[in-house]
Amino acid sequence: MRYGVAGVELFGRHDEPARISEFLDGVRQGGGVRLIRGEPGVGKSSLMTAAAELALSRGMRALRASGTAAVRLLLPAAPRSRHDRTHCCQPERTAMTDHTRSDISLRVNEITHRLSVDNRRTLLDALREDLALTGPKKGCDHGQCGACTVLCDGRRVVSCLTLAVAADTTSVTTVEGLATEGELRPIQEAFLRLDGFQCGFCTPGQICSAVGMLAEHAAGWPSAVTAGDAPDRAPELDEAEVRERMSGNLCRCGAYPPIVRAVLETAVRDGGAV
Ligand code: FES
Ligand code: FES
Repeated sequence: MRYGVAGVELFGRHDEPARISEFLDGVRQGGGVRLIRGEPGVGKSSLMTAAAELALSRGMRALRASGTAAVRLLLPAAPRSRHDRTHCCQPERTAMTDHTRSDISLRVNEITHRLSVDNRRTLLDALREDLALTGPKKGCDHGQCGACTVLCDGRRVVSCLTLAVAADTTSVTTVEGLATEGELRPIQEAFLRLDGFQCGFCTPGQICSAVGMLAEHAAGWPSAVTAGDAPDRAPELDEAEVRERMSGNLCRCGAYPPIVRAVLETAVRDGGAV
């Protein structure tokens, strides 16, 4: 069977119902192929979910893709000339059904939430869109920038590459959960005092990563720049160690020198309490 492909590529911060309904109208009218690319102000995940649900309700096959190809709807399409290179011939895909959803229990910042999520929903989307915790940022959505870093059971993870179902029953901490009763953690206070940011986009991820990183160091974990293969104690934390251990967190503003200072200072103050 041959299918037409609707590809959607969106990079928006907020949902815009008018845009979404415009897209869905196109699908409803059987257009089958509609491309919206780089439109500002369109919520990618909402669009994916709405489009996939519409496709399924109409008996179409839908494949929700991750990364930059936000959603592909595989719709029955008229055969085209074999010389038409824009035509895409796809094998049959497994349709999304109720069986692709799971009920999960997410404990985030000491509060337990019960959610019913698509099995393919990322932890980042669940945090930002289902729980309105927008501290974790969607920078690359590919695990490359660290802007989405959160702590799962105290370990740092990139939430854009973590499935929400995989975080079921784990304790998730986002930057919103670090301060207690309005009191900043030492690492947050150090970032503020030492100007460890400019635009601030990467900062929630940097801070969560620093908390996890300092715990890893305190537990004696070596890094790629630690001398010796199997050190028998925590290596001394110097600038090279901090830069290596924080290398998964990019800062487009280049605020690395004060970020490193803030981490180092926090490591030596208060016995390393972060
Ligand atoms: S958004 Fe997750 S690593 Fe960039
Ligand atoms: S402060 Fe702007 S990206 Fe880091």
